[in-house]
Amino acid sequence: MSYNNIITHFEGPAFIITINREVKLNALNYETLQEIKQAIVSVQENTSVRGIILTGAGTKAFAAGADISEFAEFDTEQGTRLSSEGHEVMNTIEQSNIPVIAAVNGFSLGGGCELAMACHIRIASENAKFGQPEVNLGLPPGYAGTQRLVQLLGKAKALEMLLSAEIINAEKALSCGMVSKVVPIEQLLPTCMELVNLYSTKSPSAIAMVIRCVNSHFQGTKPGFEKEISEFGRAFGTKDFKEGTSAFLEKRKPNY
Ligand code: COA
Repeated sequence: MSYNNIITHFEGPAFIITINREVKLNALNYETLQEIKQAIVSVQENTSVRGIILTGAGTKAFAAGADISEFAEFDTEQGTRLSSEGHEVMNTIEQSNIPVIAAVNGFSLGGGCELAMACHIRIASENAKFGQPEVNLGLPPGYAGTQRLVQLLGKAKALEMLLSAEIINAEKALSCGMVSKVVPIEQLLPTCMELVNLYSTKSPSAIAMVIRCVNSHFQGTKPGFEKEISEFGRAFGTKDFKEGTSAFLEKRKPNY
């Protein structure tokens, strides 16, 4: 399959998806997210794929967030749909029968952090940075960041990051449990490949069962995900959203 915003290739038992919008720091526009979803779905029945590695082109960013230029003019209805469709992409990754590893090679902010959190495993390069800076834009996170950050870090640490828009470095991400390992950038893909090789020695059906069981632990949290979609949409009707997105596009600080 050919895509406009991602590059996919097979390497041994791994299927590697690279977000390929380097000049925009791999910001996730609508088409990119849909392509990631299609790519994940496309290998679900491929028994020779034992792990999926998701990474960003270049050495600066995994993904610097949802593409702000694409949604700056959206209204509440469009914002709600954007969030709902983003959730579907993240759920597709989380529900993949094949483990998905985020190879986080730089900025992983906003939608980029949400994308990494939807993966089953996160390995970071030393220059990786994580954060949910949406409150700078007059928004809450919209691709399930308010939910998965709490799942991963606990309520206290999640709120600390969400309210302050703090960007944490790889070392801090390791210490708070956001990532499993931090490696030099040249070791990032080889480290993820080692994991895929390890998974390929295990039972694929048992691995899929583990993923389903772990996911089902969070089944009762659905209302929180739905709440995020509606609050995200509501934010699009506020003057803070207009100010936040205009400030980003005009390369100035927002004035709240
Ligand atoms: N959406 C759209 N475009 C983005 C983007 C995003 N989330 N993140 C970066 N870009 C674009 C920039 O607009 C810039 O484009 P330009 O060269 O056409 O002006 C290009 O990517 C390079 O980014 P730049 O800001 O110049 O790089 P930097 O090194 O000075 O700063 C960041 C890097 C990550 C700190 C900064 O880009 C940033 O804050 N990005 C937005 C992060 C964010 O709020 N994410 C959540 C979105 S929901």
